[in-house]
Amino acid sequence: MALGSESIHGMWSSRLMFILAAAGSAVGLGNIWRFPYVAGENGGGAFVLVYIGCIFLIGVPIMASEILMGRAGRQSPINTMRDLVAHSNANPLWQVIGWMGALAGFMILSFYSVIAGWAISYMLQMAAGDFTGGDAVQAQEAFGALTGDPVTVVGLHTVFMLLTMGIAARGVGAGLETTVRILMPALFFLLIVLVVYAGVTSGKFIEGLQFLFSFNVDKLTWNGVLIAMGQAFFTLSLGMGAIMAYGAYMPKDVSVLGTATMIALLDTAVALMSGMVIFPLVFANGLESSAGPGLMFVTLPLAFGHMTGGAFFGAIFFLLVTFAAITSSISLVEPAIAWLIERLKASRVKAALLVGGLAWLFGLGSAFSFNIWSDLHFVGDKTFFDVMDFTSNNILLPLGGVFIALFAGWAIDQEITRDQLAVSPRVYATWRFVTRFIAPAAVFVVFVLAFF
Ligand code: PHE
Repeated sequence: MALGSESIHGMWSSRLMFILAAAGSAVGLGNIWRFPYVAGENGGGAFVLVYIGCIFLIGVPIMASEILMGRAGRQSPINTMRDLVAHSNANPLWQVIGWMGALAGFMILSFYSVIAGWAISYMLQMAAGDFTGGDAVQAQEAFGALTGDPVTVVGLHTVFMLLTMGIAARGVGAGLETTVRILMPALFFLLIVLVVYAGVTSGKFIEGLQFLFSFNVDKLTWNGVLIAMGQAFFTLSLGMGAIMAYGAYMPKDVSVLGTATMIALLDTAVALMSGMVIFPLVFANGLESSAGPGLMFVTLPLAFGHMTGGAFFGAIFFLLVTFAAITSSISLVEPAIAWLIERLKASRVKAALLVGGLAWLFGLGSAFSFNIWSDLHFVGDKTFFDVMDFTSNNILLPLGGVFIALFAGWAIDQEITRDQLAVSPRVYATWRFVTRFIAPAAVFVVFVLAFF
């Protein structure tokens, strides 16, 4: 059967727009909120090295696989998988990749939107000068007061979800592309400003760098390696079809491997730069680098509260976080929206409402995990939020990523991968070897060692 040549959902207008959109998907809360605190909890240096290794050894080849599969199928991941399976005479079970991805997308978006809501609140609070001159107790209490108030948390979660739905409903060109075209350059600019600001005003730039790059193996456990790997998948948006969906709108003449490398580089740069904003401020104020999910929300406002221009730069910081979250959340809903449009011939507006509405409903569980449901433990001592975060990042994404690698390496018609990658035989053979053996084996080994 013939595979599509144009997507019915629209196309990115250029290579740059694809890069901005995919980098927009990749750069998000994962880089600014999650990376610094998981690096902090896992001792810094060695963790960061494992993380970077995972990004380039496992992440880039899998990202290339996702992009090429999307571009070959030119539909939602679910239907792209259906057509690729049929075209390659592969086992129908491979279609689970599309479905599992849609599920992971829902789970991630549901808690993502809750955290992004906090960032919106912090942006306003910082701008209002709420943290100026405050102490650690006050910063902790402010975080507790926000997350402990179900009405505010749900309200902010609703605002963020509405923003996501509004952009997604406008389509690939007017919605997604317009958004990334404005927000991504703004994000890069603000981040550079903040790195300089944090470095200059804290006087602890070097300590921050040392923390991120000093190699201290003692602090690293197998569980830490699993978290580094999960973080690599999460931060690159891999394993759930977001990049596959975006790949479906990519022009044919663009290099897949080159672009995937570029996106991984941008994403890693943003994660490291976020660390270079956060850790110098943490150390300058004698705070703990291992503070957990509250790192960004408790220690940073405290630090900004004591710095010249802190209210202004603090507000800028949380504005940046909100921008980063939006350009990611629109990619989390795209696979499901595209599928609803293809399957039910639904309008984009209706599809966006349905997907956003469902994720919103699911998100209530995460919103309540910090207040009325904080004592409800769903698995072990994990709250609803913990279960969503752990299952999607550490299980569904790596598993989805492995299936994608195995499918692209073993099951897909090789003509498709050759044609889509369009590289020299040597590069092709390298990509194929890594995708067939190295990436799946690495994920498998980490799974086994971390869980047993
Ligand atoms: N990569 C995004 C981040 O780092 C999260 C994300 C995961 C987005 C999966 C889309 C798909 O915040």
